[in-house]
Amino acid sequence: MAPFLLLLILLSEAASDLIVVTVHSGDDVILPCQADGSSIRAVEWTRPDLKPPEYVLFSIDGHLDPTHQHPSFKDRVELVDRDLKDGDVSLILMNVSRHDAETYECRVVTDDSRRKKRAISDSEPIGTLRLQVTEPDEIEVTVDPGDDVILPCQAPGSSIRAVEWTRRDLKTPEYVLFYSDGYLDPTHQHPSFKDRVELVDRDLKDGDVSLTLKNVSSIDNGTYECRVASAGSRRRKKGIIDSEPIRIIRLQVRDPAGPEDRNSSSVVLIVGLAAGVLVLVAAAVVGVLMYRRRKNMRSRQPAADEASADTLV
Ligand SMILES: *[C@@H]1O[C@H](CO)[C@@H](O)[C@H](O)[C@H]1NC(C)=O
Ligand SMILES: *[C@@H]1O[C@H](CO)[C@@H](O)[C@H](O)[C@H]1NC(C)=O
Ligand SMILES: *[C@@H]1O[C@H](CO)[C@@H](O)[C@H](O)[C@H]1NC(C)=O
Repeated sequence: MAPFLLLLILLSEAASDLIVVTVHSGDDVILPCQADGSSIRAVEWTRPDLKPPEYVLFSIDGHLDPTHQHPSFKDRVELVDRDLKDGDVSLILMNVSRHDAETYECRVVTDDSRRKKRAISDSEPIGTLRLQVTEPDEIEVTVDPGDDVILPCQAPGSSIRAVEWTRRDLKTPEYVLFYSDGYLDPTHQHPSFKDRVELVDRDLKDGDVSLTLKNVSSIDNGTYECRVASAGSRRRKKGIIDSEPIRIIRLQVRDPAGPEDRNSSSVVLIVGLAAGVLVLVAAAVVGVLMYRRRKNMRSRQPAADEASADTLV
């Protein structure tokens, strides 16, 4: 019994240790934090890399205090529940950028603790989170017309609510493919993609949101973007995912009479020209030789063979 208990304690220690939250740049994110008591007077969210007294957010008696808020968080942070009901002191951080990828700590002061603001920062955090921000990466895919192609895209998390594939030249709300809550939504799909696109894995297992594009032609050439909405991120607009893409793919559709073909046809042309020149040169040489021969023959047998030489030429 004793070892079992010890294991449980270790597990819960590990669980409260460090939570990693991953989000795409441009998204909003909730950093969860839960206090034990319900009578909370003040909440402080900080980052160890900020110089005190700077903080991310400080709320006391139901009011946000902007006095020492680090400027980068101005108008970008909120508490999920200002009333802090049931001890929920989670933070909403909007429009995340790579500069937000740091460690976040949350601390609370309860009614009975009588501690002042200064003492908050000295207390142990009740929650520590590491925020990871993923930036889009850009790749190039080359394909021959008539082929099927897979445009690979991997979401960082596995709890995906919606997937959107777009091409940059399409006008919103048109898209290549939109998948939400288990269904492909054809409402604003650009007609050229009808019956030609599929997700490689409809179950989106392990965050694979790659796209299959069938029977590619030159009209498919362009820059494709892959976006996902995860269960943790909030979507501002319905239908369209307005966060940054997680991957950008330049799809190059080879010209049917592509560079290689053109090269080989010019080789044929050069070989042809060279052959033509050779034939001309050969003809000239033969002509000169014949002329000489005829001349020689003429000088040796002035009249006799003239007729046969003429018929020979
Ligand atoms: C999000 O932040 C970026 C800078 O990181 C800014 O350029 C952009 O305008 C912001 N978007 C919104 C909707 O506030
Ligand atoms: C592929 O697309 C071309 C037009 O780009 C069409 O003529 C052809 O029938 C399509 N092939 C298949 C197998 O769908
Ligand atoms: C194909 O798209 C790329 C950009 O993704 C562009 O540079 C290229 O010129 C396009 N080719 C054709 C044949 O349209």
